[in-house]
Amino acid sequence: MQADGNPNMIVYFGGKYIPLGEARVGILTHALHYGTGVFEGIRAHWDEAQQEMFVMRPVEHFERWKQNCSFLRIVVPPSPQELTEITLELIRRNDFRTNVYVRPLGYKSAERVGVCFDDQDAFSLIAMPFGNYLPTDRGLRAGVSSWRRIDDNAIPARGKICGAYVNSALASDEARRSGFDDAIFLNENGHVAEGAACNIFMVRKRKLITPSVTENVLEGITRDAVMELAQRELGLEVVERPIDRSELYVCDELFFTGTAVGVAPVVEVDHRQVKDGAIGAVTSKLQQKYFDATRGHLQAYQKWLAPVYLGGKMNDQMQKIPAELVAR
Ligand SMILES: Cc1ncc(COP(=O)(O)O)c(C=O)c1O
Repeated sequence: MQADGNPNMIVYFGGKYIPLGEARVGILTHALHYGTGVFEGIRAHWDEAQQEMFVMRPVEHFERWKQNCSFLRIVVPPSPQELTEITLELIRRNDFRTNVYVRPLGYKSAERVGVCFDDQDAFSLIAMPFGNYLPTDRGLRAGVSSWRRIDDNAIPARGKICGAYVNSALASDEARRSGFDDAIFLNENGHVAEGAACNIFMVRKRKLITPSVTENVLEGITRDAVMELAQRELGLEVVERPIDRSELYVCDELFFTGTAVGVAPVVEVDHRQVKDGAIGAVTSKLQQKYFDATRGHLQAYQKWLAPVYLGGKMNDQMQKIPAELVAR
């Protein structure tokens, strides 16, 4: 799915909370011409029974974002804890009571022609209502892309660098026009890398297998969460190793993971059914565990969550920032 922004919703831009319709950049902005921005994607899930919104692993997301920004020498001054507090405040100001997607963006903001970047940086945070990115309730049909995943020595795939998402857009567009729900990338070594905007896992011979982080993949936070759930909750052995394309055709189960997609079963690859074409048992259990963990239903995983409304209580990793740092 795609989501449009409502011009009246409040965003964080230029150090202030302002309506989206007033948050504008000039057409000479460096990032617009050269893709010199780094973004992040964070989910907040609404739990109707508890009347609460839970932001998923915001500190880890902001740590990753700041690290990735350093690839382009983009400086985002607030700490991950301060950025978390800004995010909670942003959701409160919009009074969202539905699942939300948070999109931080750091970018080269100089308004001039010339590819080399300088030290003019800016950042913004947008929070918007966002439902299912892919239809995760039914199994997905995926196709291996003719486009290869970008290589670490060209543009780091672990970076969430704006310009690099042309690679994902080309693969996604090709897959959809060919009748698939989404694409699977191979890397330049010919190994399975990931989906267009998600990581990939297969179940084979009772092991959960995913490409390692040196296979030109994004080091997904959902990937990390699912690995922990698989080991702790299902007692599965998790293996990080190269995956061949043909293993996708003979595996027992296959699924994507990501902030936008959650845990999304794949039941067909390149017009071949995965096993019997039904959603597998491991995938279903992980989908349910992930759903419960992200809605605050599982005590052991509340460490991942920052509640938005109940007094904005922060978990142990977080500290409140001084009110004067939060622009009004
Ligand atoms: C290319 C790519 N791979 C994987 C992921 C999944 O990462 P995460 O679970 O941190 O959202 C994303 C999500 O943004 C992505 O864009």
